[in-house]
Amino acid sequence: MKYRAASRLGVAVSEIGLGCWQLGGSQWGDVSEGTAQDILGTAVDAGVNFFDTADVYGAGRSESLIGQFLSQRADGHKVFVATKLGRLHGYPDGYSSELFHRCVTDSIDRLRRPKLDLVQLHCVPRAYLESGQAFDWLAQLKKQGLIAHAGASVETMDEAILCLRHEACDSLQIIFNIYRQKPLEKVLEQAQRQGVAVIVRLPLASGLLAGTMTAQSHFAANDHRTFNRNGEQFNVGETFAGLPFEKGVALTGELKEIVGRPPNLAVTALRWILDFPAVTTIIPGATRPAQVAANVAASEAPRLSLAVHEAIRSFYHSRVAAHIRGPY
Ligand SMILES: NC(=O)c1ccc[n+]([C@@H]2O[C@H](COP(=O)([O-])OP(=O)(O)OC[C@H]3O[C@@H](n4cnc5c(N)ncnc54)[C@H](OP(=O)(O)O)[C@@H]3O)[C@@H](O)[C@H]2O)c1
Repeated sequence: MKYRAASRLGVAVSEIGLGCWQLGGSQWGDVSEGTAQDILGTAVDAGVNFFDTADVYGAGRSESLIGQFLSQRADGHKVFVATKLGRLHGYPDGYSSELFHRCVTDSIDRLRRPKLDLVQLHCVPRAYLESGQAFDWLAQLKKQGLIAHAGASVETMDEAILCLRHEACDSLQIIFNIYRQKPLEKVLEQAQRQGVAVIVRLPLASGLLAGTMTAQSHFAANDHRTFNRNGEQFNVGETFAGLPFEKGVALTGELKEIVGRPPNLAVTALRWILDFPAVTTIIPGATRPAQVAANVAASEAPRLSLAVHEAIRSFYHSRVAAHIRGPY
């Protein structure tokens, strides 16, 4: 595993982190506590030192399982845990400094840590990013010693640029993958210039880019790939990166040919993201430990050739971009 310096976060983080939405156990089908612990253990044993979670994932379950796991490991303190607030309580317009304080102390209890490494605003409405009020509340919590760093997870590139205006913003979490290349236009460059850590979510477009799905693939009723397939409950961009599922499967078939039918498309898709130096860490999610073991290989994989990069860029513009739905 290779590590990248995240100067604003004061640490070097693993190129491949772990997304822990799945450990909530309520929006990716059932994920048992035992499987969750195995996923976390596989990640740390492979050198992963960055977890991304949120208070809302399983209404605290993801954070609690992480807290339990880290407290049982001698090296648990070495893992940087990024959490989020803004979706379990107060969404969309009921936020206040008191509410943020309560959310943070609840996360501290669940994660069993004296203070939080990083708290990200969890796709809060644009008005809070524009006024900077939400960042002010996080800065206050920093002063109180309850959090070490503050950041934001956003939906659109416009919101990303708004966040970059605020001094308190140490990190930016965005959707960036072969099917969502807009961050290349200006966000990545500006974040890098400002030293803001870039955390990449949905690197595999909810699994599409692993290349193993077919149009007949079935998902459980309690999997967002069933109940939010067309944006029924939240931004459609969070599910298959906004692509209609069957279109996404067909495009993935085309992509495989373009990149020379690699034995594991997931590794190629993750490597493509890592080839951009502005990226600090990628946080693929997993419902099985074997997926974590496969994904970490992207860090040591060779860079993709310039020709492959050009082919992927042209594929995105000519075949993919027009099909992406949702604010982006
Ligand atoms: N608003 C926000 O801030 C926000 C929103 C979304 C996500 N996130 C964060 O970002 C993380 C990553 O995003 P995501 O989980 O939505 O999308 P993702 O990482 O693109 O997709 C994860 C899914 O891809 C499949 N997968 C992973 N590795 C695989 C492999 N090697 N081979 C085959 N399939 C593989 C698994 O699907 P199966 O379940 O089918 O096995 C897994 O559940 C989340 O866990 C969460 O921490 C944040």
